[in-house]
Amino acid sequence: MPFLKNTWYVAANAYELDEPMVSRTICNEQIVMFRKADGSVAAIQDRCPHRFVPLSMGKRVGDTLQCGYHGLRFDGSGACVEAPHDDDSQKARACIKGYATVERDKLIWLWLGDAAEADPDLIPEFAFFSDTDKYTSCQGYSHIKGNYQLISDNLLDLSHIHYLHPGIHEGSNFEDFTNKVERNGDTVWSMLWRHHYHVNPAARPMFGLEGDADDVEGQGHARWDAPGVLFVDTAFWDHGKSYGEGWNTPNAHLITPETETTSHYFWGSGRNFARDNEQFTAATAATMKNVFETQDGPMVEAQQRDMGESTDFLEHKPIILKADAAGVLARRIMKQKIAREAEADEAAQIAAE
Ligand code: FES
Ligand SMILES: [Fe+2]
Repeated sequence: MPFLKNTWYVAANAYELDEPMVSRTICNEQIVMFRKADGSVAAIQDRCPHRFVPLSMGKRVGDTLQCGYHGLRFDGSGACVEAPHDDDSQKARACIKGYATVERDKLIWLWLGDAAEADPDLIPEFAFFSDTDKYTSCQGYSHIKGNYQLISDNLLDLSHIHYLHPGIHEGSNFEDFTNKVERNGDTVWSMLWRHHYHVNPAARPMFGLEGDADDVEGQGHARWDAPGVLFVDTAFWDHGKSYGEGWNTPNAHLITPETETTSHYFWGSGRNFARDNEQFTAATAATMKNVFETQDGPMVEAQQRDMGESTDFLEHKPIILKADAAGVLARRIMKQKIAREAEADEAAQIAAE
């Protein structure tokens, strides 16, 4: 299945741009990103048009990248600004692809398709990363050898938690949990209410909860947007109280295809308790990385191995369970978007002929 082009992909965690440049393959396109002197982030093709070597093997010269082979130099839009051993006529020919980027909520968003259509208002909201009055957060990255949609499936069906991560809901009876899937435009919500969630009374002070009840109300609502942008809002509160009056950990799971069968997994978590506890922040990041790389990751990678090079999981005719509703809906929306884009490309091609 082709990749969706006219959409925002997470290309990096903002902290990665502290490096002189970051090279990353996104949907099979080699891209190099760098932060310019004015603070904005440039993203251009990581491929010199002369000998097709990565520009990231070269060096930064101010707000430009100089190829490490024969010195062609490119600015943040992809225009060649210097061809040291040639006349100026070559510069216009050497222009490479540039990408629209937006830095928002500690993430670098990149529009893979036509930059003229890159509307920042289409970027899904992850305000908890920026809301430092309310949340402390951490971020990280994992590489998964599986198609990006397999990872979305995993996150939209949280019934896997009881088996793949049994420690997380220890003591809770998942039969008390209820799930409802809703579509709002091209956004899918998988609402999960965790009634009678078990919390260890000894852990309550750490979560900022008073009293000693071991039975609380909870939620793990997941919001999906194309292509694999997920927000999972986890919260717990005492019976008789409501969301916002207890422990809240909003999470980001941002899946960007590297190739058809490999993915970048940018993840992050906020919390409204133990705000100044740096050890807690480090431990949360370490736990997330460990869970994704040793529990979810291997399961997704095993699925991909079984599928070989194929990317359309539903074509393999799996058994569909009740808990798959959100994942199947998200796949249907992706399929529609990709088909619409292919039709528009074809119409534009015919018009140009
Ligand atoms: S390969 Fe880049 S300038 Fe020759
Ligand atoms: Fe998981």
